[in-house]
Amino acid sequence: MIKNKLIKNAKKIDQFLINFLKKQDSSLLIKPMKYGVISGGKKIRSTIIFDTGKIFNIKEKKLLNICAAVECVHSYSLIHDDLPCMDNDTIRRGKPAAHIRFGEASAVLAGSSLLTLAFEIISDKKYSLDFKTKNEIVRSLASCSGHTGIAGGQDLDLKFENKKKRSDQIIEMQKKKTGKLFNFCLYAVGVVAKRKNQENFFLGTLGEEIGLLFQLADDFLDNMGSKKLVGKPVKKDKKKGKSTLLNLMGEKKAYLYANNLKRKILRKLEKHGKKADELIRTIEFILERKF
Ligand code: IPE
Ligand code: IPE
Ligand code: MG
Ligand code: MG
Ligand code: MG
Repeated sequence: MIKNKLIKNAKKIDQFLINFLKKQDSSLLIKPMKYGVISGGKKIRSTIIFDTGKIFNIKEKKLLNICAAVECVHSYSLIHDDLPCMDNDTIRRGKPAAHIRFGEASAVLAGSSLLTLAFEIISDKKYSLDFKTKNEIVRSLASCSGHTGIAGGQDLDLKFENKKKRSDQIIEMQKKKTGKLFNFCLYAVGVVAKRKNQENFFLGTLGEEIGLLFQLADDFLDNMGSKKLVGKPVKKDKKKGKSTLLNLMGEKKAYLYANNLKRKILRKLEKHGKKADELIRTIEFILERKF
């Protein structure tokens, strides 16, 4: 079952992060950082990295640092996303949001520290990748996280609140705020596998589409999901005037769009045959998920 796969992968990443942090000097921020990244969340991005690794016969051990780094960036983005100056949410993963539990200043700083921790994890001496590969991974993670990625997309998400935006504008915003980190997940595996630039670009674009599908499903869950299962308040996007495809075109059309997108993604994976089975299962889960 996909749930077991997610739990198994999450445990691996959590253990990696616990060990990595143990080797660092202590600080008061460790507690809110761990609160934000360990023992919580589906770690779906890590699962997608491992699944993509299977396509290219890359061992999980070679991808662990990349997974842990991605989860740090993701958790940073959630800590900041919940802040009063952004989505102003108080519950995350069934618990008080980091800023509620530790105060705003600590949440901002713990979030920033998770973002920088990601780059420590990749550039760690013990992570045995050649310099060229490592450099490309660092470069692309930075570009997917900053103004051309998550941060840029989050900025648009907030600026689009209560504005009439076209579907292409919403899709571009969602591809940035959520899609770019998924772009990185597939791209980075291609880089580790030493595939050609063109193929890695193709993988990145595919990742971005998977990320868009994931965000569409997140928007559906906000509207139709159970607060208990998703671990965060529901029915908030409409109240906040969030520009989503669901709010723009309604349930039926938004679902149709998402289904077509899923089909397009699966078609692109056909050429990999059975090697893509795990990734396909995860993509099916993304749209059907209840959490
Ligand atoms: C939630 O991401 C925010 C989005 C980008 C849609 P996840 O649904 O992956 O959050 P966790 O890590 O499982 O809590
Ligand atoms: C968050 O999107 C996307 C990020 C990059 C953090 P949402 O604001 O919809 O995520 P939730 O619903 O709060 O998890
Ligand atoms: Mg948000
Ligand atoms: Mg939010
Ligand atoms: Mg949401």
